[in-house]
Amino acid sequence: MDRKLRPGPTNDTTELVQNGTNLLNRRKFLRYGLNSATGVIAVTLGALGFASVLMPPSGSSSGDLAVKYWAKGREDEAWYGADHLQPMKKSDFVEQAKTSSVGMSGAQGVWNGLPVNVTYVPHSKNSNKPIANNIPRFQLTEGKDATGKVIGHFEDLSDADPSLFPSEDLIMVFSRCTHLCCIPGWQLVANDYTEDSWTPGGGDVKGSKMFCICHSSRFNPTVLEMNTNRNRSNGQTFKYAGIARAGGPAPVGLPIIPLAVNSDVIEGLTTYVDWLTYCD
Ligand code: FES
Repeated sequence: MDRKLRPGPTNDTTELVQNGTNLLNRRKFLRYGLNSATGVIAVTLGALGFASVLMPPSGSSSGDLAVKYWAKGREDEAWYGADHLQPMKKSDFVEQAKTSSVGMSGAQGVWNGLPVNVTYVPHSKNSNKPIANNIPRFQLTEGKDATGKVIGHFEDLSDADPSLFPSEDLIMVFSRCTHLCCIPGWQLVANDYTEDSWTPGGGDVKGSKMFCICHSSRFNPTVLEMNTNRNRSNGQTFKYAGIARAGGPAPVGLPIIPLAVNSDVIEGLTTYVDWLTYCD
C-alpha cells in the first residue's frame, strides 16, 4: 500500500478537548445507541456472537460513557473474558501488554450499545526511538477514498480537534466493518494478519491488525488517516478521522471514537457519533 507516513507527536501533550459545538445532546446519543443496537443483532448472528446487546442504562441522568468489555461466548478464550460487561480499565490493557512481544493489547467492547475495539499502543514510550519493526507507535497519514483519490491528511482534522489523537496510548474505533458491516475483532482469530508483531509503514503485512472474520478485511489501528464514507440510508458522504484499511474488500478504514480515561476507566466521548452512521 502506497502511504506517506509520519510518526505521531513525540510527546503526548495532546489535551483532550470536547468541542462543545459538536456535542450531541444526550437524547440523540441514547437514541442512536438504541437504533444501532438493532443493527448489532442483525449483523452478528452469523459473525462473532454478539448474541445480545446492551441497552443504555436506564435512570441515569448523565448517560454511561464507560466502555465495557465484550467477550460473549469467548469468556474462556479472551484475556478479558472474566470481565465481560465490566468497565474497561487502562491498567488492564497495560498489564496485558506485558504478555505481548511488541507491548500491545486490544479488546472488543461495547459502548452505548455500539460495538467498539480498543487497542493499547505504547506510543509515548516508543515515539522517540528510531522507527523499526516491533517498536509500535501511531503513524499519521493522508487518506484516500475507495477510488484511491487522496482526500486529506489525519492532521487536517486533529489540528482542529486534538482529542482525535489517541489519548493515554489508547485508541478506540467503531467496530462495524466498512465492507458489509460485520464486527471485526482484534486478535480474535489466529492468522498471519493478527500475529503478535508490528511493522512500520502501514502495509498489508503481518501482525497487529484488526481482522474482520466475514470476508478477511484488515485494519491497522496504529495508522491514523482522514477517511470518507457514505451513509447508506441518505447517500450523504462525510469525512472522518479513522484507522487505515490494510487489506481485503473493505473500501476504507474505521472511524475513531475519541476517549478519555477517568479514574482508570475508559470512557468514550460523544463528539463524533455522527461518523458511526455508514451502516444505517
Ligand atoms: S463485512 Fe468485513 S470483510 Fe466483509
